[in-house]
Amino acid sequence: MDELNRRGAARDDAVLQFGLRSFGVTLVIVAPLMVAFAWFNMVHRLGLPLRLDVFIGPILVAVLTSAAVAALNTLHFVRIHSIEQTKLRELNETQIEVIVTLSEVAESRCGETGAHIKRVAEYCRLLAELAGLPAEKVFLITSAAPLHDIGKVGTPDHILLKPGKLTAEEYLVMQEHAEIGYRVLAKSTKPILQTAATIARNHHEKWDGSGYPQRLRGEAIAIEGRIVAVADVFDALGTERVYKKAWTIEQIRAHFSEQAGRHFDPRLVQLFLENFDRFDAIRKQYAA
Ligand SMILES: [Fe+2]
Ligand SMILES: [Fe+2]
Repeated sequence: MDELNRRGAARDDAVLQFGLRSFGVTLVIVAPLMVAFAWFNMVHRLGLPLRLDVFIGPILVAVLTSAAVAALNTLHFVRIHSIEQTKLRELNETQIEVIVTLSEVAESRCGETGAHIKRVAEYCRLLAELAGLPAEKVFLITSAAPLHDIGKVGTPDHILLKPGKLTAEEYLVMQEHAEIGYRVLAKSTKPILQTAATIARNHHEKWDGSGYPQRLRGEAIAIEGRIVAVADVFDALGTERVYKKAWTIEQIRAHFSEQAGRHFDPRLVQLFLENFDRFDAIRKQYAA
């Protein structure tokens, strides 16, 4: 949470500064009025004639000066705030770009494209929103999802690129990518990479406990992993590969209905099927 804490502290500092300055400005306005009030009071008690013109000039100057200082303060505050926002946006964009680039490197080893990364991230965003997750969590899942197969950098070429069916032993080596990805990413304390570590480890778990690497079952599988499982499989089925054609919409829907409660979280499947057109629109939008 370092990044979020730092952002919060910077924002609080700016607000505090603005508050202190505004307080100073208020004093500048109030002080002359109090002096004027005291003077009127004294003149009245002594029975001297009132000379308003003596006061109007200085009070006017004080009020105008205060107004100018307040305006400058506000401009300064707005400037600081917008510089801070720009820097944060750039930092965020750089972060996402690094993640996407890294993911593309890993995925390109097994013939996946940048479009696959983009589609999976967008399916995850939509499914996380539909599942009612808070905005911060939706952001983390969307940003971290592209790294789900980063552990494949540790899978030997002769297994990763093997055209035919894997032997039982090769399949076990292949499965290690989930744990490798987790170990690499879990070293970081940053929320996006922590989420990515969880996704790497959980995206091949199955709702009925028959997945890997930990054979977790039901809600013991992190929601991030359950969401990516739906997104990744939908993308694999819905797009054409060198070795297969894309499945038809009917075939895809039938597969998810059948696998609800087996491979996938049934509630997520229900949301996915109820909103299928929206997922399909993303598939068409980011077609490779
Ligand atoms: Fe995977
Ligand atoms: Fe993938």
